[in-house]
Amino acid sequence: MHILQSQIDVNSSKFRKNKKRFLELLDEYKTRLAKIQQGGSDEAVKKHHSRGKLLVRERIDLLIDQGTPFLELSPLAAYGQYGDAFPAAGIVTGVGVIHGKESVIVANDATVKGGTYVAETIKKHIRAQEIAMANRLPCVYLVDSGGVFLPEQAKVFPDKYDFGRIFYNQARLSAQVIPQISIVMGSCTAGGAYVPAMSDETIIVKKQGTIFIGGPPLVKAATGEEVTAEELGGATIHTSISGVSDHFAENDKHAIQICRSIFETIPHMDKQILEFSPVEEPAYDPEEIYGIAPLDLKQPVDSREIIMRMVDGSRFHEFKNRYAPTLVSGFARIMGYPVGILANNGVLFSETSLKATHFIELCDHRKVPIIFLQNITGFIVGKQYERQGIARDGAKLVHAVANVSVPKFSVIFGGSFGAGNYAMAGRAYEPRLLFMWPNARISVMGGDQAADVLVTVKRDQLKAKGKELQDAEAKKLREEILAKYAFEGSAYFSTSRLWDDGIIDPVETRKILGMGISLSLNKKFDDTKYGVFRM
Ligand code: COA
Repeated sequence: MHILQSQIDVNSSKFRKNKKRFLELLDEYKTRLAKIQQGGSDEAVKKHHSRGKLLVRERIDLLIDQGTPFLELSPLAAYGQYGDAFPAAGIVTGVGVIHGKESVIVANDATVKGGTYVAETIKKHIRAQEIAMANRLPCVYLVDSGGVFLPEQAKVFPDKYDFGRIFYNQARLSAQVIPQISIVMGSCTAGGAYVPAMSDETIIVKKQGTIFIGGPPLVKAATGEEVTAEELGGATIHTSISGVSDHFAENDKHAIQICRSIFETIPHMDKQILEFSPVEEPAYDPEEIYGIAPLDLKQPVDSREIIMRMVDGSRFHEFKNRYAPTLVSGFARIMGYPVGILANNGVLFSETSLKATHFIELCDHRKVPIIFLQNITGFIVGKQYERQGIARDGAKLVHAVANVSVPKFSVIFGGSFGAGNYAMAGRAYEPRLLFMWPNARISVMGGDQAADVLVTVKRDQLKAKGKELQDAEAKKLREEILAKYAFEGSAYFSTSRLWDDGIIDPVETRKILGMGISLSLNKKFDDTKYGVFRM
């Protein structure tokens, strides 16, 4: 495969300025991440330890195989919301290796409001289960939660993807022979009691774990019966009388050992075969991405410059290099795995959509995962393009992206605007994983365009009433919209709401994609069936 040649001068002032600004952004991201990884308040952490309990990340460290990485998902969920009272949305989720098996781990952080669930906690829990389902990964739930955060009940209780979906997913996953294992390490109240009860196998920790449909205060209020939590639903009761739990553990560590022992009994499933080559570092230093990654989205960046710092040996077999140049397509390897890459290099035209659709079919036929690298302002607009049928050709690409069944992975390395987000495997198109770089921006259109559209609409409305939009008013409206889009378009706004699986350091991208491809092989690739392409 051809080694890409960089056109970037890494000693130029442009490169150095970009790198300096990017490192500031990265520093801000790392500071925010470190802060939320401390969990709840110092007081809550102290109380938790004083009970002889391990912290959520300590539990995960013990659960996974020593020396293996944990791919944490959406650590900044709920960031900037609820007065920042829910670091990581009170739950840690991710993929780790347990006895050689890649597994989804969902772990409540009881130091954050008693491990209770707000909307983002639920979204994060359900997203982890979706990943388990798409990739056939066993699930371990480390339960330590007071259930629904009661003040938010109207936003978290009854809807399709609300709290109840967690147990529905457990039933569906179990039915697909995807193991469901729970360790009850703390409270497990009301609806939450169904997490262990719905599991295939459950462990409970002595004097810490409790499972009940209604806690002691509720029982007293309802029936007048006075009962301690331990008598109502502690480890002894559930392992010897009710049978709600299967294994009695002395403490957190013992419970984790039992869980690992259960994993020894789970057979390895057949995997998808993907031709693997020895891993080769890129010929260009991935850290150079800091000097290249788009900060000013009006300045074009040749996406080959990003690709060559991400793929093995910077080798790239480009497809249709001379045709539809605003989208780069080609084959490469990432961490030894073969991949097809589609990377934006400008707006999407009719021919770009056709090229991308053709390339997706190639990846599908060759059973090669597809990486979408998004930096897209959208589809081209204008009379000429509408007449050529841009909507018709764009629809072909959207069809192909939606239906192709090889695993897709998306990385937003610049802007992600409008229907470009859809055509390039945005969240709604179910990429197996979707990550953003700290500089990335996402919204229905850029702030400038939205401001122009809304000022024009306002001007036309007033004109129809025989009035005129004053310059000062137009300026004010414009500034308000720009500020709103600047705030809502940031990677932090997105990740807080789980529109992605996390913000990542560009340098880590190839490793994270490698882990993503590896976990996707746990489910054999299906055959693709496309719908009707509008010709
Ligand atoms: N909704 C809202 N807030 C809750 C809550 C709930 N269900 N459960 C606990 N919290 C809050 C507490 O108010 C406290 O908030 P603060 O940090 O602002 O003071 C924090 O979570 C920790 O609770 P606390 O009781 O001090 O901690 P604990 O470790 O001793 O006990 C629980 C934790 C979860 C066992 C206990 O709070 C409890 O039993 N909660 C009620 C559970 C319940 O009945 N849930 C039904 C929901 S379906």
